[in-house]
Amino acid sequence: MSQPAGSSKAWGGVFREPTDARVEAFSESVSFDRRLADDDIDGSIAHARMLASVGLVSVQEADAIAQVLEEIRGDIRAGRFEFTAAREDIHLHIESALTARLGDTGRKLHTARSRNDQVATDLRLYCRRAIDRLDAGLTALQRAFLSLAERERDLVIPGYTHLQRAQPVLAAHQLLAWCEKLGRDRDRLADCRRRTNVLPLGSGALAGTSLPIDRDHVQDALGFEAVAANSLDAASDRDFACELAFVLALAGVHLSQWAEEWIIYSTHEFGFVQLPEGFCTGSSIMPQKINPDVLELIRGKSARLVGNLQGLLVLLKGLPTAYNRDLQEDKEAIFDSIDTLESVLGVAAPLVEGTRFDRRRLAASIAAGHLDATSLMEALIAAGVPQRTAHEIVGHLVRRAMTRGISLGELSDEEISREYAGWNAALRGALGASRAVERMQSFGSTAPAAVADQIACWRRRLGVADG
Ligand code: ARG
Repeated sequence: MSQPAGSSKAWGGVFREPTDARVEAFSESVSFDRRLADDDIDGSIAHARMLASVGLVSVQEADAIAQVLEEIRGDIRAGRFEFTAAREDIHLHIESALTARLGDTGRKLHTARSRNDQVATDLRLYCRRAIDRLDAGLTALQRAFLSLAERERDLVIPGYTHLQRAQPVLAAHQLLAWCEKLGRDRDRLADCRRRTNVLPLGSGALAGTSLPIDRDHVQDALGFEAVAANSLDAASDRDFACELAFVLALAGVHLSQWAEEWIIYSTHEFGFVQLPEGFCTGSSIMPQKINPDVLELIRGKSARLVGNLQGLLVLLKGLPTAYNRDLQEDKEAIFDSIDTLESVLGVAAPLVEGTRFDRRRLAASIAAGHLDATSLMEALIAAGVPQRTAHEIVGHLVRRAMTRGISLGELSDEEISREYAGWNAALRGALGASRAVERMQSFGSTAPAAVADQIACWRRRLGVADG
């Protein structure tokens, strides 16, 4: 039987043969793009109202279309809607349900519209909503780091470079470092939202339409900031999806770095933090194990975020101007990135809130490793010793202390004087990890006063109420 007769296809006319069932199965997207249903219906209602405003359909017809679309929305939400590969994608599903209920009036909805500008609009609406949810999730995580920083505001911990003991820092300073990174992720999200929030609908398939549409009307109805200016570009532009995938990948990488750090901190060897048990899991064979699986999965899931970004970029690189069906492959990647980061954020904030620093272990830990060497060197510089010379003097002192298995502060005055003749008791004030922290003065440093300023600043930025 030829397709046109009882066909559910939107393109029946010219075809003499029905679509091969294998092609239907191969090319369907409704199994994953059904999650655009709400956005598709919002877009269609705005489009129908615009068609009425310019006289392409009557107001009664637009009302009927809007009403039936809301019924369809209700059916989809309630799980009463039937999906089939034969109707390909969510757009054709909704339109054919509309037509089944409304006849010819339903058949007018697609006036001056193509699935190309339709899907581009739906995806932008979907991403815009996701951006707002992700921003809220990142903010909640920033607040969790901030509140831990406030709880531990006086705690000194070893700072590392190359994962080797470097200089002492305030735990709060390090916790606020994550707030900074997540803050940049949020800035990038906001920036990406601006370019996402542009209306493609009205571009038609690629060239626009000869019908007298009013794109500003649709822009207002859907809350877009601008109307895309070039129909050829707009119908296939997926830059916003790539940008979003990048922002989420970088946020995922930040969270992976944090997870790695806390996995290390939580080992028996470090013992700096104790993770909440509800966010750890055990071993089926080793009864004593309490594993940081949540942090490991956060680290692991960043791989998907990076992969999705790469997939999108490669997807786009060979496409000539305007819509190509390859673009259907954009959705699973961007959906997965959004889902993945949302799931990570859902566990990261409560994990941070439930984590405790082990003050006893940390107090013992900052005494070792000559974390005050740089502090002593800077004290010598302040006393007039050239930097290279001061570096060398302290290097010799560290070597003496290392050989004897003691700290710099445990070297006697006579011993130090042998390396530096100008040695005096006041210079001892530079020794000790806590003093090293207190002596910091530069803006942005780990000095207690500077960190207190940063805490106050983050409280303001994150809208944390005083009290
Ligand atoms: N399902 C398609 C997609 O996701 C919708 C657009 C189809 N357009 C077309 N010309 N076949 O990209």
